[in-house]
Amino acid sequence: MTRFVYVNGTYHRYREAGVHVEDRGFQFADSVYEVIEIASSALVDSERHLARLERSLAELEIPPPMARGPLLHVIGETVRRNRVREGMVYLQVSRGVGVRDFLFTGKPLQPTLVCLARHVGKAARDAAGVKGMRVVSVPDIRWGRCDIKTVMLLPAVLAKHEALKSGAAEAWFVDSEGYVTEGGSTNAWIVNAEGELQTRKLSNALLPGVTRRTLFDVADELGLPVKEAAFSIEAAQGAREAFVTSASNTVMPVINIDGVDIGNGQPGPISVKLRHAFHGIAEHMALGTGGISSTS
Ligand code: PDD
Repeated sequence: MTRFVYVNGTYHRYREAGVHVEDRGFQFADSVYEVIEIASSALVDSERHLARLERSLAELEIPPPMARGPLLHVIGETVRRNRVREGMVYLQVSRGVGVRDFLFTGKPLQPTLVCLARHVGKAARDAAGVKGMRVVSVPDIRWGRCDIKTVMLLPAVLAKHEALKSGAAEAWFVDSEGYVTEGGSTNAWIVNAEGELQTRKLSNALLPGVTRRTLFDVADELGLPVKEAAFSIEAAQGAREAFVTSASNTVMPVINIDGVDIGNGQPGPISVKLRHAFHGIAEHMALGTGGISSTS
């Protein structure tokens, strides 16, 4: 349950929180966001998430609403007020409020900053990780700058709706050449015949996932080779294992793609090992009762 939401300097009660109808995030999807996991009262990989937020803002020429220190304070305070120990923080920054105009070259706007924190039960997440998830493929109809984490998420909304209708929990986007770009809200991976962890190389076609990046560190620690190369749905269906990564899932085994079981249709041993090792390697910034208290 979310009790309080930070909007532009004030912590509002959840049901009363809102932004203006002429917010450019609402009218143009002129807005970026981040989702950061909270595990054992710590922010996971906050350094990488905040660096990506800064990059997303810079790519769209939106000035940062505040410096990193105050932003971390807002995050810590939002988490504290909502008493979240396990769950996630959602941050959104839009270009701001102005009379509807495609151009943003007029009077500089004050960016809108929203921060909310929500409890997500660890037991439910662990149970999902043990079961694994089914995936369906859909054509990638998104724009050419999927490397920027914008709220332009309608293709992902529709793709996940298609997935749900087929009894799957995630959709994998497939580009015009038949290669998987990424999931609706996850990065896509396989364990190929050579035993390598394979995921698509970064480009404008996919989000540079923070969990993806940290998984390189996890793989390194476990002595597992990583290969950055695109793969097709057929290659994934024939792979030893498949899994997805994201802040809300960490590492989630994929057990079936478009109706075809991966391996024996159970979460693969390497995916499970990576999932268990993840929090031991990821950066954790402790959130004390007074907000951010220390870094470990
Ligand atoms: N989704 N690809 C897409 C399209 C995403 O939306 C996400 C994140 C990822 C994984 O990125 P990261 O590891 O940094 O979470 C990849 C978030 C969790 C969301 O929209 O809820």
